[in-house]
Amino acid sequence: MREAAHPGRIVAYPAQKLSTEATWTPERPSRDPERAARKSPQTSTREPVIQEPVASEAVDPEPEATRRAAGVTESSRANRGWWDRNADEYQIEHGTFLGDDRFVWCPEGLDETEAELLGPPEDLKGRDVLEIGAGAAQCSRWLTAQGARPVALDLSHRQLQHSLRIGGGFPLVCADAAALPFADGSFDLACSAYGALPFVADPRLVLREVRRVLRPGGRFVFSVTHPLRWAFPDEPGPEGLSVSASYFDRTPYVEQDDEGRAVYVEHHRTLGDRVRDVVTSGFRLVDLVEPEWPDWNTSEWGGWSPLRGHLIPGTAIFVCERD
Ligand SMILES: C[S@@+](CC[C@H](N)C(=O)[O-])C[C@H]1O[C@@H](n2cnc3c(N)ncnc32)[C@H](O)[C@@H]1O
Repeated sequence: MREAAHPGRIVAYPAQKLSTEATWTPERPSRDPERAARKSPQTSTREPVIQEPVASEAVDPEPEATRRAAGVTESSRANRGWWDRNADEYQIEHGTFLGDDRFVWCPEGLDETEAELLGPPEDLKGRDVLEIGAGAAQCSRWLTAQGARPVALDLSHRQLQHSLRIGGGFPLVCADAAALPFADGSFDLACSAYGALPFVADPRLVLREVRRVLRPGGRFVFSVTHPLRWAFPDEPGPEGLSVSASYFDRTPYVEQDDEGRAVYVEHHRTLGDRVRDVVTSGFRLVDLVEPEWPDWNTSEWGGWSPLRGHLIPGTAIFVCERD
């Protein structure tokens, strides 16, 4: 809930001994950052959600990449650790492209200023907006400039420290998107640029939570990797243009340490799965945007590149509304 989160510090769910120093001491991890617990559903989330603390154990520098099952808790724990360890690298790599106070939906560079997926900018004034999987909360900074009142939420404390480093004055909340620590009907809008949805084992848990905290008529817009990409190698060059796996194989992508513990997880849903997830979670699907690669964008972002972007979709953006 808004009162619980004070600008200038990170409110952590669960309460953990976490530093809120906004220091910027990048340490480059040795691995590619691009490869890129929930408790039971709550009837009321007025109380802080308690999750198990993540052990800060050393991680095998060369985890094994595989496809295998990974559940809700394992995925959440793995990704929390991964994003904490790789937040610095992510911000070094992509901070300039994202801009400190722009709202960029995807590696294609689609900007909310032109897309207006949340509605006309003038209608954002005074709106309560939840940004999910906010990272360094660049989108929340843009929303603030439009006169909105954003709350930036992320699973990774280190990502939120980057938001503190940049500044902004809006609340930062460290929590899992599948257990939102806000009262019902707290927000007018919710948004997520590649935050949470690609990483959770059951996206319906997130969607239901977002629906719960939205007011009637509220809109949720989220971007994810386009499901079609899962049939191709995650490579920016020509090798990323030949089908190498079944689009219909929903087995998660997992990186695991030498004891078989997941240290990074991404989940695949087909386009039909995503539409069903949205609808069965109580939303109407208003639009499904597949941004085309613009000529001005010469940047690569992991497997997203001008070469592939001109040929196959890289991002799917779902515009959803609750009644
Ligand atoms: C690809 S980054 C996107 C960050 C930001 N939206 C941006 O565009 O730079 C994904 C973010 O989602 C966060 N995340 C992953 N799983 C999450 C979850 N279950 N709940 C909340 N945030 C999550 C990660 O910590 C990370 O900051």
